[in-house]
Amino acid sequence: MTDYLPGFGNHVSTEAVPGALPIGRNSPQRPPFGLYAEQLSGTAFTAPRHENRRSWLYRMRPSAEHPPFRRYDGAPRFAPGTSAEPLAPNRLRWDPIAAPAPGTDLIDGLTTMLANRDPASLEGVAVHVYAANRDMVDRVFVDTDGELLFVPQAGQVELLTELGRIVIAPGQIALVPRGVRFRALLPDGEARGYVAENHGSLFRLPDLGPIGANGLANPRDFETPVAWYEDVDRPTVLIQKYLGALWQTTLDHSPLDVVAWHGNLAPWRYDLARFNTINTVSFDHPDPSIFTVLTSPSDVPGRANADFVIFPPRWMVAEGTFRPPWFHRNVMSEAMGLIHGAYDAKAEGFAPGGLSLHNLMSGHGPDVASWEKASAAALTPHRIEGTMAFMVESCWPYRLTAHARDHAQPDYDAVWNGFPKAELPR
Ligand SMILES: [Fe+2]
Repeated sequence: MTDYLPGFGNHVSTEAVPGALPIGRNSPQRPPFGLYAEQLSGTAFTAPRHENRRSWLYRMRPSAEHPPFRRYDGAPRFAPGTSAEPLAPNRLRWDPIAAPAPGTDLIDGLTTMLANRDPASLEGVAVHVYAANRDMVDRVFVDTDGELLFVPQAGQVELLTELGRIVIAPGQIALVPRGVRFRALLPDGEARGYVAENHGSLFRLPDLGPIGANGLANPRDFETPVAWYEDVDRPTVLIQKYLGALWQTTLDHSPLDVVAWHGNLAPWRYDLARFNTINTVSFDHPDPSIFTVLTSPSDVPGRANADFVIFPPRWMVAEGTFRPPWFHRNVMSEAMGLIHGAYDAKAEGFAPGGLSLHNLMSGHGPDVASWEKASAAALTPHRIEGTMAFMVESCWPYRLTAHARDHAQPDYDAVWNGFPKAELPR
């Protein structure tokens, strides 16, 4: 039995114990082995069929069995809310966060940097970074506010979820749906990375239009884990992010006790190296939407609540063209991270694990050094190697947490100082 099943959004049937999955009905009068049937709805019951996502879980105890929640204050930089003061129209950039204190697990090691919209509006996206050095033991997390897209930058992460186990390393991503409980192990002892928390419509593969039936992220390359459970009767702290705040309760068992499930709402992983990168073979740099891995649509056609876009290794062959990303002002807001290597529009200052923000209509583009180099470069075919940057682009301008406000690089604007003035004919 393989550990993963291929395909994006498939209807999966999987059982960790033979005979645990009811056949032919979702809610038998008495499910096998005394398991409890529970539906997890990721979309409204009446969502159109092609968007409808739900799974049926068969578990050792029902999720409904839990004591009251009380506030959790063990993750002081995770979900603190954004600053209420007016947001300056400045471009911003951040270095990687400092090393965590010993004994910091992934949840306590999360630092929220950017967020837009109120999670209760079921729109918007937040960008968090994490740095952690401890496994989650007898601790489980669930995000009620959105699905979580993990983007490791250093160190593997093993996600033990209600629906199965996923291991990801830098260069891979994983998604945990809203409401799916999990704990995170760090096989390398420590880990760093990013998390995009999508409050809006579920991430899906973008339409391909004239590209055709294949290309960009292909559905077959997404991997959903098979059913897995742990049978643990020990006090387990359940931490929940709920409407922007953290809460906790203590169960007398691990809630990762789903023995079988079926449905199409499930975690998955994806290797970014499998992205079929498409770009010009003539001239000009296409809009970076050509690099979209996943999109969360808003209610306005073509205007994403959140797009997850990558800048992978690729050939640059455009003729007579300034090849790096061009200068740009955008009604959409752009948060960028770097997994490894260097981004082709920034010569320095944007470190792996760092973050940048070019919000609503901010002028941005190559820095002076990158512009000079690209303006003079011989336009032979050139392969960009050893880099992976990504962007979480949103129609909602990002707001800063206090940590982000207080830790931005002080001199980011200076990368655009010193461009020579154009010389008009006299
Ligand atoms: Fe841009």
